[in-house]
Amino acid sequence: MDLKLDPNPTTDPNSVPSPALSHWSAEPGWLNTASSGLPPDVALAALTRAQETWHRGRTDMDGFHAAGERARAAFGRIVGAPAEAIMAGNTTSGLLAPFAAGLPAGGRLVVPEVEFTSNLFPWLVQEARGVEVVTVPASELVAAIDERTTAVAFSLVQSADGSIAAESDIVAAARAYGASVYVDGTQACGWLPVDATRYDLFVVSAYKWLMTPRGAAYGYVAPELAARTLPHAANWYAGAPDVDPYYGPPLRLTDTARRFDTSPSWFCQVGADPALELVERIGVEHIHAHDVALANRFLAGLGLPPGDSAIVAIDLPDARARLESADIRVSARAGRTRLAFHVYNTDADVDAAVTALTS
Ligand SMILES: Cc1ncc(COP(=O)(O)O)c(C=O)c1O
Repeated sequence: MDLKLDPNPTTDPNSVPSPALSHWSAEPGWLNTASSGLPPDVALAALTRAQETWHRGRTDMDGFHAAGERARAAFGRIVGAPAEAIMAGNTTSGLLAPFAAGLPAGGRLVVPEVEFTSNLFPWLVQEARGVEVVTVPASELVAAIDERTTAVAFSLVQSADGSIAAESDIVAAARAYGASVYVDGTQACGWLPVDATRYDLFVVSAYKWLMTPRGAAYGYVAPELAARTLPHAANWYAGAPDVDPYYGPPLRLTDTARRFDTSPSWFCQVGADPALELVERIGVEHIHAHDVALANRFLAGLGLPPGDSAIVAIDLPDARARLESADIRVSARAGRTRLAFHVYNTDADVDAAVTALTS
């Protein structure tokens, strides 16, 4: 695949290489990647091809598998982890479930209280088994970790307002007390550089900042956590290599993180494969600089100080209605209007949003 990327990417830290932008066909005004990312053209083309062959009775099952394995490996490279430590599924909450079920009865997990529920409900349901779940303001998470703490869970970037967790302090506190660290990277991975191996578990729904179809999710599982967790969703696809996976006992699961996979949503993986490859080739560092520069251009346009996130939540009366009447698509979360700036957005998108809010 010829991605037509600049072999000598720009040294301007505030932009992605401009040839990379040509890989999307976004109409102006999509400032809503925190809800859903837009696929690059290569992802749409791959998905369309797969749907056409499906339609004609020419489905390539091996191709589905190969796309899923390439997507797994690319996700691993994006987060700094080997493919063997990456599980693949459909949703953040689904991938978290076996690890939530693996919390010991009597254990204690701390989590921010304004946490997206896909990284909250999987833990809260464990209260029925005697797991204590303590919710605290995000700013008090570090202080809430103590000798009683079994695990801490948090989003690296908060869905509601784009705030970035004090992850090094949280990890240090957790390690000091021997607590596990479970991280939801859904609103981070794709624009914020990440080293998933700092955590025990790092789970991402890829349809936002990694711009895959909805239904592709990936996670890094540290070897020690993998070894002590039952793969509660075990299925034929989680089987050992070179063994017939289809019928009958005995249980024969692979010893890589794939044993936590759900059997793949084929079309999602077909679309995810080129999307992840493109993110990797552009480089998350470049995307980070581009996205944050756009967010800061927007903040400056409103006379607000710069931030460090690709997501901005504003508290202006009628903001969402004013933006939508200018055909700028955003979302409302926690009583505020949330804007998200990603690789396919431009200065013109930002300036149109500022004009809609200030004129
Ligand atoms: C932080 C975060 N995690 C997870 C999700 C999605 O979770 P799931 O894949 O379980 O639907 C979202 C969606 O908005 C989110 O913001």
